[in-house]
Amino acid sequence: MLTEFNPFQLSGYHGPDLFCNRKQETRKLISNIKNGVNTTLLSIRRMGKTGLIYHTFNSLNKMSGVHCVYIDIYATQNLKEFTNQIGTAVLKAFPEKHSIGKKFLQLLKNFRPVISFDPLTNLPEVSFDFVQTKQYENSLTGIFAFLENQGITIALAIDEFQQIADYPERNTEALLRGIIQPLKNVRFIFSGSSKHMLNDIFSNSKRPFFASTHTLTLGTIKKEDYVLFIERIFSERKRKIRTDALEFITDWSRLHTYYTQVVCNRIFATGLRDITLHQVQMECNDLLKEQEGVFFQYRNLLTSGQWELLKAIAKEDKVHHPSSKEFIGKHNIGTPANIQRGLEALLNKELVYREHDQNGRYYSVYDCFLARWLERK
Ligand SMILES: Nc1ncnc2c1ncn2[C@@H]1O[C@H](COP(=O)(O)OP(=O)(O)OP(=O)(O)O)[C@@H](O)[C@H]1O
Ligand SMILES: [Mg+2]
Repeated sequence: MLTEFNPFQLSGYHGPDLFCNRKQETRKLISNIKNGVNTTLLSIRRMGKTGLIYHTFNSLNKMSGVHCVYIDIYATQNLKEFTNQIGTAVLKAFPEKHSIGKKFLQLLKNFRPVISFDPLTNLPEVSFDFVQTKQYENSLTGIFAFLENQGITIALAIDEFQQIADYPERNTEALLRGIIQPLKNVRFIFSGSSKHMLNDIFSNSKRPFFASTHTLTLGTIKKEDYVLFIERIFSERKRKIRTDALEFITDWSRLHTYYTQVVCNRIFATGLRDITLHQVQMECNDLLKEQEGVFFQYRNLLTSGQWELLKAIAKEDKVHHPSSKEFIGKHNIGTPANIQRGLEALLNKELVYREHDQNGRYYSVYDCFLARWLERK
């Protein structure tokens, strides 16, 4: 029933009706796929890359002629696991009933895979048990050559692509580039969030993926659009939310998609029919209280200098010049050299991210709720 199901979902993709905007980005991804351009999709974490890929695939699936395959390689640690993931994803996308699926299974048999079935979902999983890296390379080449020759266009999204930079096999990028470059019927979306690493993979002229893709950077959804979206979702479920409450939600969650969704999800869950600013503020307060335990644990992971720096960044929201006298003096946090070291540590721990806006490079606390909690300290 509409009234019971929480429409502000916090994971997965739940159809275009519960997905806010991203029209331009979706159009661009579709156009790239149709025009033979591979895309690199970048953003900070939890901004909506995976959602956007699913949303794009949902639109593409309605048009004929493009088959979409999604792979998340976050859990893979080497070329072997990457190859297994690709094989499994293709097998799932083209089940054995499908003529392509039948042919694919035939091809796989040449590579002598172990095919098992997930006991919960009953979906197949492929695992190659080769001894030499070369054998994985051959099977990868074989799989992509197979996809290329099926007389269809395939859109293949590889999510968390930055993972390949951690594989022990040094030549993974060169290998993939060699395999991917000549393909005409398989279009790629490489998506990832470790911006520094992905930028390096794609923009460093010494690295093989250089200049081979179009980069799409995902920012926040426009405030007006998110406000209209939230209002519509509530009103379709016979609930009213006041304008100042909507303003507050989008500002407080910085329009960082996941955090905006969490706040809305909570407010929806209260069952309130006429939502005021005060009620929203109370919910946000409770939310921070509930997470306090986790926030204190962060403090245990950091030196006191790093903690103070994190707090100072939270209070400023965005810090463009962390080494400036003004910032250091205002928050009384050591020397420029300390700050630099502290920033590196916070970036490495993904407690802080680095981004660009019209005023140049800036630093911000990654977890929006942690930032809201810290700024009160
Ligand atoms: N356009 C949207 N409208 C509504 N909800 C969205 C939208 N985009 C993403 N979400 C929601 O926001 C959350 C984060 O999205 P998603 O997982 O796609 O981000 P991500 O960039 O892939 O994150 P990560 O880098 O951690 O993988 C999810 O709960 C998702 O359901
Ligand atoms: Mg994701």
